[in-house]
Amino acid sequence: MAKPILFLLVLILFFLHGGDSAPPHACDSSNPTTKLFLFCRTDISINRRAKDLVSRLTVDEKISQLVNTAPGIPRLGIPAYEWWSEALHGVAGVGPGIRFNGTVHAATSFPQVILTAASFDPYEWFRIARVIGKEARGVYNAGQANGMTFWAPNINIFRDPRWGRGQETPGEDPTMTGTYAVAYVRGLQGDSFDGKKILSGGHLQASACCKHFTAYDLDRWKGITRYVFNAQVSLADLAETYQPPFKKCIQEGRASGIMCAYNRVNGVPACANPNLLTHTARGLWQFNGYITSDCDAVSIIYDAQGYAKSPEDAVADVLKAGMDVNCGSYLAKHTKSALQKKKVSESDINRALINLFSVRIRLGLLNGDPSKLTYGNISPKDVCSPGHQALALEAARNGIVLMKNTLKLLPFSKGSIGSLAVIGPNADIAKTLLGNYAGPPCKSVTPLDAINVYIERGYIKSTIYHKGCDSVACANADAEIDQAVAIARDADRVVLIMGLDLTQEKEDFDRVDLSLPGKQRELITSIAKVAKKPVVLVLICGGPVDVSFATNNAKIGSIIWAGYPGEAGGIALAEILFGDHNPGGRLPVTWYPQSFVNVKMTDMRMRSATGYPGRTYRFYKGPKVFEFGHGLSYSRYSYQFKTQAETNLYLNQSVAKPNSVDSIRYTLVSEMGKHGCDIAKTKVSVMVENQGEMSGKHPVLMFARHERGGEDGKRAEKQLVGFKSIVLSNGERAEIEFEISLCEHLTRANEVGVMVVEEGKYFLTVGDSELPLTVNL
Ligand SMILES: *[C@@H]1O[C@H](CO)[C@@H](O)[C@H](O)[C@H]1NC(C)=O
Ligand SMILES: *[C@@H]1O[C@H](CO)[C@@H](O)[C@H](O)[C@H]1NC(C)=O
Repeated sequence: MAKPILFLLVLILFFLHGGDSAPPHACDSSNPTTKLFLFCRTDISINRRAKDLVSRLTVDEKISQLVNTAPGIPRLGIPAYEWWSEALHGVAGVGPGIRFNGTVHAATSFPQVILTAASFDPYEWFRIARVIGKEARGVYNAGQANGMTFWAPNINIFRDPRWGRGQETPGEDPTMTGTYAVAYVRGLQGDSFDGKKILSGGHLQASACCKHFTAYDLDRWKGITRYVFNAQVSLADLAETYQPPFKKCIQEGRASGIMCAYNRVNGVPACANPNLLTHTARGLWQFNGYITSDCDAVSIIYDAQGYAKSPEDAVADVLKAGMDVNCGSYLAKHTKSALQKKKVSESDINRALINLFSVRIRLGLLNGDPSKLTYGNISPKDVCSPGHQALALEAARNGIVLMKNTLKLLPFSKGSIGSLAVIGPNADIAKTLLGNYAGPPCKSVTPLDAINVYIERGYIKSTIYHKGCDSVACANADAEIDQAVAIARDADRVVLIMGLDLTQEKEDFDRVDLSLPGKQRELITSIAKVAKKPVVLVLICGGPVDVSFATNNAKIGSIIWAGYPGEAGGIALAEILFGDHNPGGRLPVTWYPQSFVNVKMTDMRMRSATGYPGRTYRFYKGPKVFEFGHGLSYSRYSYQFKTQAETNLYLNQSVAKPNSVDSIRYTLVSEMGKHGCDIAKTKVSVMVENQGEMSGKHPVLMFARHERGGEDGKRAEKQLVGFKSIVLSNGERAEIEFEISLCEHLTRANEVGVMVVEEGKYFLTVGDSELPLTVNL
């Protein structure tokens, strides 16, 4: 009698356990067949396990695994796997790997990366990514994820202000972008901030992916698309600008993924370039992980670029180059015939599969029941936790940049204002605050909602809202402008919340203009003209806009850049307007004037040349609306170098073999050797003082320049060599220390892309303070 009941109970338990909430897993210890497989044994090396698994697959099973939606292999107990998930600034439902249709229906939506970058705070970046990785596990443990491989961070250089995806990146500086990459990867993958917890090949919280490798920063501009674009990049620019973030992402971050880009680089499709994928990434940089194509980036090698002469050639090109998995279905369709035509061998496929299964093993997905493993106790309750949401608010506060504040218009003081007019198409919308690649946020608060809270708090008596334009495009707005002008005329103060949204800049869509869309400028200047007091202009946008009309207009007293500040961005903005937070963000990109649109977006050159102004603060020689690093505060900060004497750095004479060009002696960094580089370092400290009345968090930026600067077109005007964020209360001062390394900071690339150190005088600068430093060969 007892037996059937017991059986029923087991059956019920089985269904309860195997239902929606339990993620599918391989190597179930209760399954007598699968637990005997060598690949299920956690006491042997990952490489041996992956090889064993691959050796058990038939050719057809192998081919089936070469695409992002990899089917299960039931006879081995291996579940289906989805390689494509997104988590650029929070777990997103953009890729097919994550579903928000169960217990978890939202995730913490951090500011879009360009605004997070503006805090210049690597530890904050690390904490954000650690939260994203944790929430990803929460989603997985809830049974709503088919994979733990996330295709972030986007670490291409924000080379051109028109780029629709510039918002996804940490900006235009390679050092800063590399530092962001390392912080993000370590955080997401479950490493410690110093990178000492997870060694190469170790177990992962989630897998990060350095993308898009490489020289990818044009989406769709005047009919030219990323699918066919051939980026012509000089070896110097490649070595000095485009590659360093990837090198750091891989070497220091130890990312377990790379995505190769759509575009060609000097004629060769990025995904079909063995020099890039195998020689550079796996060889020189010792990459340990999997390489995916961007979505459909394999098919275009034949279809759109005509680089391969047949589909089978495209398959062979990418597999021989070192790519492992194809986002799309091309490899599933054409690999069999590529094998039959002997364009690829089974060992090419095995190589890719060993990389792929190694990452799945490192994620703990072939270790039996994942709920019993390291990350198994992260629950759906950890997603959108109060602590995580507080971090999203903190990141928005730290990123928002005060760009102009004449006569201390801001912050608004308590009780001094009756009516506040809040005007603009971005004032009462929450979705725009998220930017692209966003998941459903834990909460939605519009800037207007957040400002209205200050009525209850007694700062203002009332607000009057008007959209000002029908949309951000602001095309037919005459009637709205008239209404908004009438409201502004009567109000005590005016805040305009303008800018862009994803209809103006996004993936597959670059801008052709740098000015504000449609009649936005007309609306702003008409209102400024009639307003009783100077107005506040808030810009919500990822890429920069030319607002020189506003910087020069005395009736526009304050300008704030809020990027796309995420789910809590409206709150952070209101806190800054009313002085509950002292802004400290600094621009991670140069803001160019509209005339920059005369430069062809397809021109990849960083350095200026005749008739070409160059790009980014490092090389651009034209006029600027705002500088890289610009950012005000409600306090004033002063800087003083503590190191008094002129600092000398000597190369190790016995290893350096100086050459000279244009009477400047130089030596190759590679010739200095590790030892030579280790001793050619110096510590420099700077006293920073908060001379204002409010306490604040302030990022200190240190640049270096050679005495000849960029005058002969060989080197950057200046280069960011360090940044540290410091919290100082009013009147407080503190000393901060930077380590300057000859081999890392005082180098440039020569014409053939080799890094060199030049002799001569350099200057380290922080604000207006300068410290000379001599390098002797
Ligand atoms: C969620 O979506 C997935 C994929 O579309 C589907 O298989 C699953 O049944 C859905 N779950 C719920 C609870 O609706
Ligand atoms: C200079 O380099 C040589 C060769 O690597 C090494 O033996 C020597 O100790 C170095 N000198 C100093 C001062 O470090």
